[in-house]
Amino acid sequence: MELGGKVAIVTGAGSGIGRATALAFADAGCSVVVADIDDEGGNETVGLIHDAGGTAMFTRVDVTEPRSLEAMFEAAVAAYGGIDIVHNNAGLVSGEPLWPDITPETLLRVMSVNLGGVVVGTQMAIPYLRQRGGGAIVNTASMASLYPMVVDPIYSATKAGVTMFTRACAPLAEEGIRVNSVLPGLVNTALLPKSGDGERWADWAYAARDAMGMMEPSVVADAVLALCRDDTAVAREQVVGALPQVNDAQVNDAQVNDAQVNDAQVNDAQVNDAQVNDAQGADGDS
Ligand SMILES: NC(=O)c1ccc[n+]([C@@H]2O[C@H](COP(=O)([O-])OP(=O)(O)OC[C@H]3O[C@@H](n4cnc5c(N)ncnc54)[C@H](O)[C@@H]3O)[C@@H](O)[C@H]2O)c1
Repeated sequence: MELGGKVAIVTGAGSGIGRATALAFADAGCSVVVADIDDEGGNETVGLIHDAGGTAMFTRVDVTEPRSLEAMFEAAVAAYGGIDIVHNNAGLVSGEPLWPDITPETLLRVMSVNLGGVVVGTQMAIPYLRQRGGGAIVNTASMASLYPMVVDPIYSATKAGVTMFTRACAPLAEEGIRVNSVLPGLVNTALLPKSGDGERWADWAYAARDAMGMMEPSVVADAVLALCRDDTAVAREQVVGALPQVNDAQVNDAQVNDAQVNDAQVNDAQVNDAQVNDAQGADGDS
């Protein structure tokens, strides 16, 4: 897909990875809908895009609210006439107190934002992308979908959910709607202080940085744009950054061995298998 002249929505674009992706889409010639629950951060991103000569607008969204998501899509169509690209990126870590002392309310919130927001955001995007004859959806997962993140199991679970959901959306490619995911390692964003008490990183975040290093958000943005441009990318899980050697580095003290990590790296064959199985399911064979 040639990005120039396209309309892209980015959720969680008021900060971090979403902001970097919004800036990159604008730089590539897209009109960008900057969507976030945080008005201040969202408007700041729009200001940065305008300063760079790009086209963007802010719309406030809470991705856990279907009506709010619908209003986001409608605002995009009203402003720019249609939608070609959706980056379902808004997400959060649980923060402290850590599992299992976390409150059930926080658990439910993390599930609603990280998984619910992606699933409903994808579902609601489909009719709009169909109207354009197809389009691209990129969902932000995490390397935490490949490892048991024992300090924040619900984060791992939601991100694993995002990757499997994305794989299961492969058949949408038959109508030109390509759904892919990015799986970043540790990224230097405001999410890291939120891993602790809001100001201070959690101990696990320091351990992860020591094991994996840390990327700038623009590296993830580049991967998101590459997935949008690559018409062969379907249900791809794009790891961004080097997979840590978990045994050596003791990320989260997880009991993961190299074989498990290698098994977790999805290859095209597995994706193709998934498509075959889906087709069988549609035929009622499984
Ligand atoms: N930073 C990392 O190390 C890292 C690594 C892998 C994956 N990720 C994922 O990347 C995505 C972006 O995270 P980030 O690191 O840029 O964090 P961030 O905190 O800088 O940005 C997240 C944005 O999402 C917004 N948001 C939160 N809840 C929302 C809601 N209900 N509706 C709309 N917007 C909401 C926040 O206001 C914020 O602007 C998340 O899905 C995160 O899980 C981050």
